[in-house]
Amino acid sequence: MTTDITMLRRATAMPPSEMAPRYQELLRRLTTAARTNLGFPAATDIDYRPLAPLLGVLLNNLGDPWTDGVWPLHAKGIERDVLSFFAQLFRAPAGWTGYLTSGGTEGNHYGLWRGRTRLPNAVAYHSAAAHYSVPKAEHLLGLPSVTVAAAATGEIDYTDLQRQAARFPSRPAIVTATIGTTMTEAVDDVQRIHQALDAAGNTHRYVHSDAALAGVPLAVTADRPAFDLGDGADSISISGHKFFGTPLVCGVVIDGRGLGDLPPTIRYTGAPDTSITGSRTGLGAVMLAHALDVLGLPGLLDRAQRARSLAAYACHSLQAIGWPHWRNPAAFTVMLREPPQTVRARWHLPSTDGWSHLICMPGITTRHIDALIRDLALLLDGAQPSVVERSATVLRD
Ligand SMILES: Cc1ncc(COP(=O)(O)O)c(C=O)c1O
Repeated sequence: MTTDITMLRRATAMPPSEMAPRYQELLRRLTTAARTNLGFPAATDIDYRPLAPLLGVLLNNLGDPWTDGVWPLHAKGIERDVLSFFAQLFRAPAGWTGYLTSGGTEGNHYGLWRGRTRLPNAVAYHSAAAHYSVPKAEHLLGLPSVTVAAAATGEIDYTDLQRQAARFPSRPAIVTATIGTTMTEAVDDVQRIHQALDAAGNTHRYVHSDAALAGVPLAVTADRPAFDLGDGADSISISGHKFFGTPLVCGVVIDGRGLGDLPPTIRYTGAPDTSITGSRTGLGAVMLAHALDVLGLPGLLDRAQRARSLAAYACHSLQAIGWPHWRNPAAFTVMLREPPQTVRARWHLPSTDGWSHLICMPGITTRHIDALIRDLALLLDGAQPSVVERSATVLRD
């Protein structure tokens, strides 16, 4: 491999207080893309810029969050507050533990790791609609992995779970429930998962709830489905950059059963090594604390309700132009018949099996939905996709 010495020289010649033109260009591209992102769940309504002075210091919550340790540049006190909030929100029993992760993927990995530690010789089950990080974590952990069918809505097929689990009645079961599937935002019911395992004769089991997007909005909603630790999940994880839109990818995992015997303290760090990554984000903890400070529980509820109302508005608007669509109950996500590539590219809409989705995250408004509907209506009127591209209005803040 060759090194681009010219570029290195240029980079080192930049005045340290200025942002290089290529990063300014990056910022412009990101700002533009964020304005038309309807396909990926990242809230944009919380302003994290007041925390900018913290970028001047390294924040590493090294090791277990419950022990400050030797390393001084951490925000573990704030992390513990954040964890306590989520433990209460997800109805964790006494003795729970948890930590700030690098995202929902690590949360799933950790949940399955805890399951395997408690239930050696287990078989792991996840639905066909589970996030790809789940089978990956099962593979990394060397867990025998069974894919269970999902209904057309994306929810796990409980009859198939029972059928599959009944094939291994003497082996413990580790089941990942998805609380808001990536494509359709379907919610697996943790109580029905337990019933399916009861019927299959699997007495030893561990259920991890992958609640990356929908865990928090569902937890603050009155007619919530059965998904959290109070409903029989053993662990639950969320992403920080989805519903909270933290500008740093991060997440939270809560382990309802706690660790029991802590692993030994690492002499060098002064803290037990209880997480997957060791060095962990402290800034993510501060960002989540900031979001919770700014919003409080009423703010979280308000944002969830507004997002759902906007999803209902999107359905209504699609209905008005006759564009096929559907939506799971309480979802921010609206499924719509796959539009042509020009529209998908402009609004960053992913697609599978002839369907795309849009996600009404906090920060998205009726103006975004109206502009998308205009694009679709033009196509229905017979316009060529290139005309849609030219007519597209750029949304400004
Ligand atoms: C259901 C589900 N689980 C896990 C993840 C992974 O989360 P992260 O991107 O925070 O690793 C996602 C991301 O889209 C998801 O939709």
